[in-house]
Amino acid sequence: MSIIGKNIPHDSAIGHVTGESVFIDDMPFAKNELIVDFVGSPYAHGELISVDTSEAEKIEGIIGLYTYKDLDGINKFGPIIQDEHLLVEHTATFMGEPIVVIAGETRQAIAKAKKAIKIVMKELEPVFTIDEAIKREQYIGVPRFIIRGDVQSVFKTSEHILEGTFINGGQEQFYLESQASIAYPGEDNTLVIHSSTQHPSEIVQVAASILGLQQNQVICITKRMGGGFGGKESQACHFAVMAGLVALKTKRPARAVLNKDTDMMVTGKRHPFQNNYKVAFDKNGMITALKVDLFSNGGAAADLSTSILERAMLHSDSAYYLPNVEINGRVCKTNLPPNTAFRGFGGPQGTLNTENIIEEIAHYLKKDAYEIRRINCYGVNDRNITPYGQIIHNNVLPEIFDELIYSSDYTERLEAVKEFNSVSKTHLKGISLSPVKFGISFTTKFLNQGSALVNIYLDGTVQVSTGGTEMGQGLNTKIRQIVADEFSIDYETVRIMATSTEKNNNTSPTAASSGTDINGSAAVVACQAIRDRLSEFAAQYFSSFENGITKAKEHIVFKDNYIFDNRLPDNKIAFKDFVVLAYRERVSLGERGFYQTPGVDFNRDTGKGNPFLYFTNGAAVSEVLIDKFTGELKVLRSDILIDIGESINVGIDRGQVIGGFIQGMGWVTGEELKYNEKGYLLSHSPTTYKIPNITDVPDIFNVNFFKNDTNIVNVKKSKAVGEPPLLLGISVWTAVKHALSCVSSGKRINLSVPATNEEIIMAIDQFEEIPIKIKVLEY
Ligand code: MTE
Ligand code: HPA
Repeated sequence: MSIIGKNIPHDSAIGHVTGESVFIDDMPFAKNELIVDFVGSPYAHGELISVDTSEAEKIEGIIGLYTYKDLDGINKFGPIIQDEHLLVEHTATFMGEPIVVIAGETRQAIAKAKKAIKIVMKELEPVFTIDEAIKREQYIGVPRFIIRGDVQSVFKTSEHILEGTFINGGQEQFYLESQASIAYPGEDNTLVIHSSTQHPSEIVQVAASILGLQQNQVICITKRMGGGFGGKESQACHFAVMAGLVALKTKRPARAVLNKDTDMMVTGKRHPFQNNYKVAFDKNGMITALKVDLFSNGGAAADLSTSILERAMLHSDSAYYLPNVEINGRVCKTNLPPNTAFRGFGGPQGTLNTENIIEEIAHYLKKDAYEIRRINCYGVNDRNITPYGQIIHNNVLPEIFDELIYSSDYTERLEAVKEFNSVSKTHLKGISLSPVKFGISFTTKFLNQGSALVNIYLDGTVQVSTGGTEMGQGLNTKIRQIVADEFSIDYETVRIMATSTEKNNNTSPTAASSGTDINGSAAVVACQAIRDRLSEFAAQYFSSFENGITKAKEHIVFKDNYIFDNRLPDNKIAFKDFVVLAYRERVSLGERGFYQTPGVDFNRDTGKGNPFLYFTNGAAVSEVLIDKFTGELKVLRSDILIDIGESINVGIDRGQVIGGFIQGMGWVTGEELKYNEKGYLLSHSPTTYKIPNITDVPDIFNVNFFKNDTNIVNVKKSKAVGEPPLLLGISVWTAVKHALSCVSSGKRINLSVPATNEEIIMAIDQFEEIPIKIKVLEY
């Protein structure tokens, strides 16, 4: 039986629970190792007047203090636009932006040094909001658009039009392992950097450029991350390079591991968006034209913001056919830490904005929102072209909608919810379906490439190393399954090695949910090349006996740890024995495979093309209960139906779906980033920033996979699962909006994201006299 689809436990499951798994800060301290930390800007925007480290230098245990002047390369970097400094030169652009790197022997010495470093700055006026950035025309990158048809002429004649502004907040990635790197200096000015990063190759490129090295002098190794969620796609770099700087300067190993509070304060998050929309629709709620202007808060530097905005624009159709559409986008530049990738990469923001519009249309027409969703849903043979011109092949969305509505008893429960709301004085209920149609591939074409090195050893065991990184998502387990399947050998005989730029160079980040797609496909290419050589040798081997068969490679079969010619199936030889014979005949037992995703291309200037290889689709129905006295929210039930093609590992994929949904639910409900007026993040620790916990999981939680074997374009007919389920969490927010619509007497509902308990109670307060008012005590 094939290993593909089996419920194999996560590669590191046992290690994680026994504590055997090694994360960066678990690596034993090396002789002479130094601790790396930094002092950052006290202002969100400020001119650097002077830095005096003379007193700090005298502190025992302080080995080095470095400013931008100590960098031997270029103090400018960035994954798309090179507009970021590792260390502030003249102007600090966000609070905590690193100014001085400290290398010390103990944390105590570093704490003293932080106090002794004298930084003089002139505070400049900061900008934090999208409104203010728009007013000052502070943008990153160029204006972007995707246009089809003619929205203006439809607006002129349309029966119904709604306009509004919709706001979503940011979200902290909240990986459990903070940003962490250790750099080891070597001979000839070389560096080996162990980093908790989604993008080892970028660390090599940026470290070499900033530290004045050649890229072949730097190796980056990533065994695993304790979560990344996008936050380590581009932003692991800064701290890895700081460790590299200290290691090069002192010739001692150097460890840069952030504490949680610092990590939360200085690193970027999911982008807040503020969007204006105008939608035209007929009396049934069929959308005839939609114009959206998306504005994201990019923070102080470009980072990945322009690409994230692009994905938000590409997901502004959500799951709906929009005959006339105009999607405009801009990234606003503010004095917050540069915002960055977070699971969904703008997709959730674009989708959420449109799901809010659907709720608005339903509320205005006094119809059930599902009805509006269903009639606007992309079609199978027509109404199946996206605003950017990509045809949606094998569209399963209508089927998913119908199946889920039935299996979740939506219609009966909707009636029950309405009935409940008409009688309850203390609570409100809401129920809603929201869909996901998530485009799979990097929208930046060149990133759609993967590589894998496969080596077979003489006991028949295999090592595989890919450019992909493990952050908990189960990539390593899936790669092992894919390789075991290709040779038809036991899963246990395949080992996955730490990701290293020494084995796979110029790799893409593990992001865009395409880790298994591109690296798994590359592993298949490598395995097939080896199998081809082994088959050639096997054909010769089996035909060399006096058994009457001719040498024919196409008859060679790899099955259940054996190799044979299918014309003589009893004459089989164990894989492990056969590789020894092959080795002795000088057949190469190693291969590097390379894969490039076919057919993807998107023209940024015209806003047209096929950016995605395929789409991962799904939907969720959530039912919520709201306490009218406190605004407290409980998810009573969620039903998920998601199409991930033929799952490579059902247990891991289920984990991804559940985790993604809960993370999305956290974004739209409880997680709130609060800053003071100076740009200081008040919610910078687990005590002040609330991610969902076990009690927030829906009381009834049904997760099902939609049967779909049509996705032949991807490895083992699977579909990517990493990011899409996050968007299903939106159903919790739309359910809250539905609940509010039941008490709003037709008035417009003002609800943004996150719908915290406070937001919910304030929204109810617009429509109903709340029995108990929140009183502000006066002193
Ligand atoms: N799952 C866990 N446990 N930890 C993570 O950090 N990151 C998510 C998702 N699932 C993440 C996760 C994100 S943001 C992405 S893009 C994908 O995993 C990346 O991995 P994949 O491409 O192998 O699915
Ligand atoms: N998705 C996720 N991460 C990325 C992308 C993308 O499209 N492009 C660059 N990094």
